[in-house]
Amino acid sequence: MLSDQDHIEGLFPEAATNWDLDRLYADLQTVSGKEIKAVEKACLRGLLCRYRPGQLAFKLAWTSGALRVELNKGLYRSLEAIADQPSNTLRWEKVPEWLENKGYKMQRQNLHSSPENSQVNFKPNSVDWGEAPNIQAFYGRTDEVAKLEQWILGDRCHLLAVCGMGGIGKTALVVKLAENIHTKFDYFIWRSLRGAQPTAQLLADLLQFLGFAHTGCSISDLLEILRQKRCLIVLDDFEATLQDGELVGAYRQGCEGYAEFLQRIGFERHQSSLILIGREQPKEISMNQGEDQLIRHYKVNGLQRQGAFELLRARGFTGSENGLEALVQQYRGNPSALRIVAGTIQELFNGNVSEFLKQTALALGDVLRTLLYQQFERLSKLEKDVLYWLAIKHRPISLSTLRSQMNLQTSGSELIDALESLRWRSLIEKLTEQGEVMFLLEPVVLKYVSRKFVEEVSKEVVVIAMQQDLKSINLLRSHTLVEDLAPDSIRAMQIRLILKPIKDKFAKAIAQNNIELDTLREKLANAQPSQVSEDSTYIDSNLALIGVWW
Ligand SMILES: Nc1ncnc2c1ncn2[C@@H]1O[C@H](COP(=O)(O)OP(=O)(O)O)[C@@H](O)[C@H]1O
Ligand SMILES: [Mg+2]
Repeated sequence: MLSDQDHIEGLFPEAATNWDLDRLYADLQTVSGKEIKAVEKACLRGLLCRYRPGQLAFKLAWTSGALRVELNKGLYRSLEAIADQPSNTLRWEKVPEWLENKGYKMQRQNLHSSPENSQVNFKPNSVDWGEAPNIQAFYGRTDEVAKLEQWILGDRCHLLAVCGMGGIGKTALVVKLAENIHTKFDYFIWRSLRGAQPTAQLLADLLQFLGFAHTGCSISDLLEILRQKRCLIVLDDFEATLQDGELVGAYRQGCEGYAEFLQRIGFERHQSSLILIGREQPKEISMNQGEDQLIRHYKVNGLQRQGAFELLRARGFTGSENGLEALVQQYRGNPSALRIVAGTIQELFNGNVSEFLKQTALALGDVLRTLLYQQFERLSKLEKDVLYWLAIKHRPISLSTLRSQMNLQTSGSELIDALESLRWRSLIEKLTEQGEVMFLLEPVVLKYVSRKFVEEVSKEVVVIAMQQDLKSINLLRSHTLVEDLAPDSIRAMQIRLILKPIKDKFAKAIAQNNIELDTLREKLANAQPSQVSEDSTYIDSNLALIGVWW
């Protein structure tokens, strides 16, 4: 067991990567004339890593009010002193900037090497599957995989965009393609852009993988490597770089560089290939693609009859049921839809396909939503909680992680039962990663559950603000909105897909209903620890993230 002291000292170790902490602690001690407490050091590290005070309090298991008092009387005043700032002017979000100006941020050796010194150290380990899923069951599409193989290996296509609606099987198809061809390349790298990484960040990531030891990170640097070595790059979820609600083709802020990125990879001379996967075709591709060009577009449709039947057979049908043919037609071979309806038919209609078809004549677009709604509403509280967690996590997680993060009162076996039941309903998938069993959401379900979570939490926080107390708190206690320790790309996604929409809805409700937050903030700050953060719940950090609280 870690002692409290060890726990505090172990918090936010990543601050040491960029900051000269020893010198900083020593200087703080000099100006204050006192030993710096472990709690203060931890808060300082946290602030340097851009955590909010509310999150720091949560991590330290203090109430926010108590921590504010503590920091106000000590650390904040010393920080003002070493940053040469007037007393009582500290704003916590300014701390990194102040200390950087005072030279406490370390310059990384390789960050400023001159271009002449830059070099490419080609690494022998040249395969990185990144966030690519492990596709265990893949049916049909033999001709499609062969055709794309020919395009990439035979025709040496530079840029291939694989497009189609969500859940149609784009990612699975490209995983199969890449499994077949990646050994023909010097380098293979898969990245998902669902966190809408800015172009510069992706470039830095690719160049680092390719062994490029210099930080200019320009598109020209990447092209130089694509000329020297044969690389296969896959960028999944490319639509995340495009703006919502805009005409097709406008990039999000920070992502504008993808236009040049695509154009240059498409048109310049080199020996590599880039495969994009996305719902929409970027306009750099639609304007220039053609079967006689090195830029191509492939539209993914549903599975053909044979593949669809194989999929249904794997889900308990014999293949000779009445109505199976009509079912495949109705859902146009969409593998996600078929998987989900197959579960529903088995569960609610005893496997009777005709009966199911008679009762639901839904179009494909509605089917997923309606089926998911029906399925979701029938779930137990524990099952819903599990789905929400998997949606927040946005990646496969193990039973033990799920259990520890959920702070479950229930026994492990109930959680296992819930997971089994969700799997049986085809809402989650199970896979084995390095010998460990992991769970994740079906892609279509992920979208639905994330939206539902945002909706529920938004309602909850509005009620809290209207009632000015925490009586109706529920999901904000049991689920985190953004994970402190998740990889950056996941955090970025949680912020974009979960936190931001909740904050937007909350801001709108506050404005519409003239809600005052001051009384609530006062109450929270004065609350006894047991009222706010009984055992270790996520309330403090969630309220801080939404901005109900500082
Ligand atoms: N050919 C296939 N055979 C079996 N299952 C498939 C096939 N294609 C896709 N799936 C399954 O359907 C679901 C959606 O596929 P996915 O590739 O993630 O869709 P997309 O990337 O188009 O959103 C996944 O669970 C995937 O495993
Ligand atoms: Mg996909």
